[in-house]
Amino acid sequence: MLRNRFFLCAWIVMAVVWATVATAQAGIEGRGSETRKAILLVAFGSTRPQAQVSFENIDTAVRRTWPDIPVRWAYTSSIVRKKLARNGRKLDSPAVALARMLDESITRVVVQSLHTIPGAEFHDLAQTARSFQRPGGFDRVIVGNALLATQADMEMAADAILGIIPAARKPQEAVVLMGHGTHHPANVYYAALMFQLQLRDPNLFVGCVEGYPQIGVIQGIMNRRKIRKAYLMPFMSVAGDHAIHDMAGEAPDSWRSILTQAGIECETILKGTAEYGSFVDIWVQHVQAAMDSF
Ligand code: CO
Repeated sequence: MLRNRFFLCAWIVMAVVWATVATAQAGIEGRGSETRKAILLVAFGSTRPQAQVSFENIDTAVRRTWPDIPVRWAYTSSIVRKKLARNGRKLDSPAVALARMLDESITRVVVQSLHTIPGAEFHDLAQTARSFQRPGGFDRVIVGNALLATQADMEMAADAILGIIPAARKPQEAVVLMGHGTHHPANVYYAALMFQLQLRDPNLFVGCVEGYPQIGVIQGIMNRRKIRKAYLMPFMSVAGDHAIHDMAGEAPDSWRSILTQAGIECETILKGTAEYGSFVDIWVQHVQAAMDSF
């Protein structure tokens, strides 16, 4: 009996000591280590004023979803940043933007890639972002996936594409999307997306201006199927130089010229994916997934 009482007392004393220590520690951690979150949106960048529509669309959607969290921008292309700087528009590189955020005592950052595939640009960005998670850096840095990363993304993107095809297009007419393409292994995403599209509609194609599948591969299939008309659309966040010149341009090596030459009438649509809410939603979902993993 006495022994039991002794143990009970010992337990109570230990519990009180533990509670006191825990409270004191929480107090120390609470002081000066307040969590401050921020979002950094990172695009390749563009010098075209029309590109601003795309970027503003994403900016508005993200700010609307997280009204209390600061949102910043960075461009990965140094050429684009230099051109813009000459016209008085200063945009940060991801490293500079992250350094500024550290100066503002931000502790956790979601770095959201606005790239289309996880290629070289995405991996460089992820490496830069990770280098900021260190003593004296951020507590956490999480990189949000590019537009296409998971199988779920592929299916959402395929559905988003179905939703932007002009209503006038008939089933025997093709829709050809121009992706950028890359030397990076992630180039396989374009053909994988085409597979998802063709499960829905066999006359939807994805080609690349700087990677596989080249337009010749797609033209061969269209000729075999005796397709006489195609709608050409960029599969890039911004309808920039590639869309204007390499897809819709007058030069003999533009996709429009090549297909026209092959007897396929072309109609071009000059709108980047980021101009459509359905694609912006996918990027916003990726910001959400990054936020959830904090
Ligand atoms: Co290019």
